Formats: sequence, structure tokens, C-alpha cells
Amino acid sequence: MTDAPHAPTDTPPCAELHLHIEGTLEPELIYELAERNGIPLPYSDIDDLRRRYEFDDLQSFLDLYYANMAVLRTAADFAALARAYFARAARGGVRHAELFFDPQAHLVRGVALADIVGGLADAVRGAEAEFGVSSALIACFLRDRPAAEATQVLRDLLAMDAPIVGIGLDSAEQGHPPEDFAEVYALAAESGLRRVAHAGEEGPAAYVRSALDVLGVERIDHGVRSLEDPALVSRLAGERMPLTVCPLSNVRLKGVATLAAHPLPAMLEAGLAVTINSDDPAYFGGYVDDNYRALAATFGWGPDVLAALAHTSVDASFAGEARKAELHAQIDAWERRA
Ligand code: ADE
Ligand code: ZN
Repeated sequence: MTDAPHAPTDTPPCAELHLHIEGTLEPELIYELAERNGIPLPYSDIDDLRRRYEFDDLQSFLDLYYANMAVLRTAADFAALARAYFARAARGGVRHAELFFDPQAHLVRGVALADIVGGLADAVRGAEAEFGVSSALIACFLRDRPAAEATQVLRDLLAMDAPIVGIGLDSAEQGHPPEDFAEVYALAAESGLRRVAHAGEEGPAAYVRSALDVLGVERIDHGVRSLEDPALVSRLAGERMPLTVCPLSNVRLKGVATLAAHPLPAMLEAGLAVTINSDDPAYFGGYVDDNYRALAATFGWGPDVLAALAHTSVDASFAGEARKAELHAQIDAWERRA
């Protein structure tokens, strides 16, 4: 596999494991797709749209995130969205990416599952050749919609032999515990799919426990509120259960007051298998390299800490062993040069 064309020097090559492809929809692309598809936008101009990127909590972000998706109509739109992400991510050092997508958010708007999956799969295939980025798709289910709908969507994805590596669970967390989705996770397990879930972003540590015990997840997305339960922290550390932490997202959604107040140093100190990710970079002020850079500046972390985080991202990924070995070697080479 070729190296990405623009290898950065200040942040390491890495895997990105917590990235909602719809959260990479930049204002410029929103305007371009709205024009292409003849969709009126409820903003006076692009600056008016940008001024709305101030959030009080997860729900206030989700309202804008779902509204902006209205411009995604065709397979070509989904392919363009993902290609733009791969181009930007490769410039920031991402060498492997596992992309979340939200099928239900598009199905409810009348977009066909084949167009959603087909467009994203085209971009995934192209990313390897064009940018040297290996990647995989993870279908996320919306926890604030009925669990039976999630199960039906997974059945439809399986029936069309969709090229997904696994499933996830996202959207409004509070009041929507993981255990409500036991059925769709059991179906995923039977079907040989990998399982991850958002837990402990805004919801309690108990949701992290039920994601592990009831859903059988292999990674926890966010998991920051696990720190409220010391026994859970010991368990996560003992199992080296990966947590896909998204620092700039946590600040923008007010899960933490400032980056300096982020518990990441305490999480590392506790032996947790932390990875760094961007979540919804178009909305939260930065891609994954911006997250690494901000952490380095805030906590005074040098190349050794950044490389260790990048190695954890590779270990926690669903890439094959040969690809993981290539990525570890690229991180080692970066650290020697840094
Ligand atoms: N969907 C997109 N971004 C999300 C987040 N940070 N938490 C839950 N659901 C999401
Ligand atoms: Zn997320």
C-alpha cells in the first residue's frame, strides 16, 4: 500500500476508530450538495450556518447534524462526502479509518439503503488506491429510535450483503440504555459482525457496563464517564478494553469544561486503552490530527506519548494482522524522525 501523499511531521500516523461520516459534512459541501440537489437551506448564507456551530450539549448538536443531512440524496453524494473525509484524514496522518454511518437517519428521509451503502463503499474502495488509507464501514443504530427498527435495518443490510465490518449504537444517550438493543447485537454476533457502542458520553457508567455485559462490545465509544465507577475502571484497564475518546468533541458538547480539564491524563494513568478520535470533525473544530496537536499543546505531551496513543489505535482497530504490523512500523518510523 502506498503512503499518504502529504505525511505530516508533528502528529503520528494513526487509525481513526470513532468518526461519523455524516459529521464530516463541511459547510462548503452542504452548500454544494444543496445546490446540486435543489434543496433549500434554512440559513441566510454559509457564515450564518457556521455561526450555529455552538452547542450546549449532545442534543443541540444532533439537531443540526440531522438537519444538515437533508442535502445527502444520492449514492454520488455519499461517495463525495466520504472521499472528502479520506482526503483530509490522509493529510492529517490517518492510515486506517473505521467509518460510522447512520442508515436510519437517511432511510427516514426516503434515501435507499443501496444508495447509502453503495456510495460509501465506492469511497472506501477508492481510498486505498488514492490515499493509502485502509478502511471499513460500521453501521450505527440510533438509540432514540425503536430497537425493532434497528433489527430490521440490520436484516436488510445482511440481505444485501452490505460490506460492513460491524455495528455501533449512537445518537441521544440519556434514557436510552444499551440493553434495549440486545436483539440487534445478538443478530450481529450470530452474523460474524464486530460490535461497538457509544456509552458513557453523556450517559452513566452503568451504560458502559451494560454495553459490555449485554451487548458484548469490543470497544466503548467515548466511555469518559466510566471514571465515576472505580471498579469499572479497574475492569476496563484489566481487559485492555479500548475506549475511543474524542477530546475536542467532549469540549464542544460540554462534557468537559476545557481541554485542560479533560480526564485523559487520569485515564492513561489508570491504564485504560485510550485512543484519540475526532467524532464529528466538521462540527467540533478539528480532525484527528487537530486532536493530537491540541492534546500535545495542552498537556505537554511529546512524540513518545503521541506514538503510544497511535499504537493503541492500531491495536484497537479491526484491521488484519498484516496491516496492523505495517501501521505499527509507520508509527515507529515517525517517532524516530520526530
Ligand atoms: N452521532 C454523531 N455524533 C455523535 C456523538 N458524539 N454521540 C452520539 N451520537 C452521535
Ligand atoms: Zn460519536
